[in-house]
Amino acid sequence: MPKSVPNQPLDNLDQWEDDLLRRYPEGSSALRESQKSATEFRNYESDTRPGVREFYRLNHRFQTHAFVTEKRREYLSLQKRTMGIWEAMEFLNTLVDESDPDTDLSQIEHLMQTAESIRADGHPRWFILTGLIHDLGKILCLFGEPQWAVVGDTFPVGCAFSDKVVLHEFFDDNPDRTDPRFSTHLGIYAAGAGLDNVLMSWGHDEYLYHVVKSFLPEEALYMIRYHSFYAAHREGAYDELMNDHDRAMFAWVRKFNPYDLYTKGHQRPDVDRLRPYYEELIAEFFPTELRW
Ligand SMILES: [Fe+2]
Ligand SMILES: [Fe+2]
Repeated sequence: MPKSVPNQPLDNLDQWEDDLLRRYPEGSSALRESQKSATEFRNYESDTRPGVREFYRLNHRFQTHAFVTEKRREYLSLQKRTMGIWEAMEFLNTLVDESDPDTDLSQIEHLMQTAESIRADGHPRWFILTGLIHDLGKILCLFGEPQWAVVGDTFPVGCAFSDKVVLHEFFDDNPDRTDPRFSTHLGIYAAGAGLDNVLMSWGHDEYLYHVVKSFLPEEALYMIRYHSFYAAHREGAYDELMNDHDRAMFAWVRKFNPYDLYTKGHQRPDVDRLRPYYEELIAEFFPTELRW
């Protein structure tokens, strides 16, 4: 995807995650982040590469309540395809972008590496499986969605945008910003409404949640649905929309996040050797075919 393609400013989808690593370096804690000085934050933002900035500009401009409602209508009836989990992994791997095959991990390798590090820490089987599948929603790209509607930090629409969302100044161009329905602090929501009643910006997290929600424990579903909601799980924003159950479940989202962010560059997984183990794990929870 050359930069000249409109709406595809990233050379590859992983550039967003590489930038997350710059924002939240390994070993950083939520406490440390809240103590970050204004200067450090400005430095982070001014050093952000142009493709990533442009990516966030588009994301913040176009993720509106109307856009999210339209994408939910288009995708959540799950009528695009029928396929099993492994087939979806192979489908995702066909995503052709400008990654470097010698140094960058393939999509399957990222998924397996995440799962393998969860497994190495002795976590339950559903947790390992969650690592394996957490990014399968990125197949939205293969259905023709632009990068800004597939990856990137997620955030609620229908209420005021938090200044804890990265590069929040780009929300100035979002028409919801001046819509009286959506621009108050709580917008269309009641205080403590619970995240299940809140519309999140559209992307791979929400989509995959709807594909797998009948098959995995609730802790896994929270990890999948909110893993890109950095404003909440790393910055503590949007607490006013959560209920106590969300707050309890976010402990799992936080537990998952390091496996997603900090396993890249560790040893490359041997996909062929690991495949039988993961096929068996998939079969333990999922039917052979799922609706996407
Ligand atoms: Fe992801
Ligand atoms: Fe990921």
